[in-house]
Amino acid sequence: MEFFIPVHVYEGIGIVKARSRELAALGTKALIVTGKNSAKKNGSLRDVEEALASEGIPAAVFSDVEENPAAETIMKARDWGLSEGVDFVVGLGGGSALDAAKLIALMICHKDEGPDFLFDKNADNLSLPVAAIPTTCGTGSELTAVSILTLPEKRSKSSTPHRIFPKIALLDGTYLKSAPRQVLNNTAIDALGHMIESIINVKSSDFSRMTAMEGIAEWRRSKDVLLGKKEPSDEDYQNLIKASGLGGIAIAQTGTSLPHALSYPITFEMKMPHGQAIGFFEASFLRESPEALSSMILEQAGFSSPDAFEDFYREVCGNPLISEDLLCQAVEMTLNNPAKLETAPFRVDQEMLLRIAGLKKS
Ligand SMILES: [Fe+2]
Repeated sequence: MEFFIPVHVYEGIGIVKARSRELAALGTKALIVTGKNSAKKNGSLRDVEEALASEGIPAAVFSDVEENPAAETIMKARDWGLSEGVDFVVGLGGGSALDAAKLIALMICHKDEGPDFLFDKNADNLSLPVAAIPTTCGTGSELTAVSILTLPEKRSKSSTPHRIFPKIALLDGTYLKSAPRQVLNNTAIDALGHMIESIINVKSSDFSRMTAMEGIAEWRRSKDVLLGKKEPSDEDYQNLIKASGLGGIAIAQTGTSLPHALSYPITFEMKMPHGQAIGFFEASFLRESPEALSSMILEQAGFSSPDAFEDFYREVCGNPLISEDLLCQAVEMTLNNPAKLETAPFRVDQEMLLRIAGLKKS
């Protein structure tokens, strides 16, 4: 058993400015990596710029990270970072921005390499230091070493082989305030999915399970916000961002499992948000899992059964229509991914995947 999380985690409202010294200690010039709009809207970009300026640290901004980034974006940002002479990277945003930040930090240290380096299993992981500041409540990327890129030629997404933990993660839930409700809901389902898939996993240990179970407890405290039954307070936002971080720590130990694998071609083909796509498979994954584990998870999350959880998912994420063809394709791709199949603590065959995909009755 191993439990490893080499990230300084700072959590609380106003934490970016409160920890300006720790942020500035990462280098002498920052590359802030973010998406097009939300970091401006939620105030996080201003906070980071002010925190760095207060410590006399200049920053360049790359704000062109798209949803589900492709290698091309990483290369473009690498060139921009090199031309600006940056020596650390601040990832700011949802999973796409944080994943991109890690890979940009990697590629800046490998300035003569092409995009193939991103998927080279034998390549080293030398990177600039990274700070990660999430502004959605699902990815957990701020506390994992993994980065996911879109693979246009495979019509799917994939983890890159590089392992890059951020040096510091700054968790301030108030950046969630301006997120559209649907983003909040989808990303919160992603966080819960991480905790489910970490617990129902061959690599699960007492330590990772404890982390995931605490994450589910935090998540449950604010789940009425997702249903629109409760006006969110600052505490709710903080609970949700903490749940997301705890889910990140849990999957940093175990990885994710079948629902994530099944979701990737769906996200690629339908441009479906990640949380909505993985959530589609979670209730059926629980139905196929050992009863002791699934009932422990459902009880901790406050659901009486997998059906009750499925109803909740439909209420907060909608009822996505995915064609049978695409679901079959997702099953096929997952069957061809033995590493993912082996994450389940039970035997997985085609019949089972068809049931998890909703193509066969349980
Ligand atoms: Fe995820």
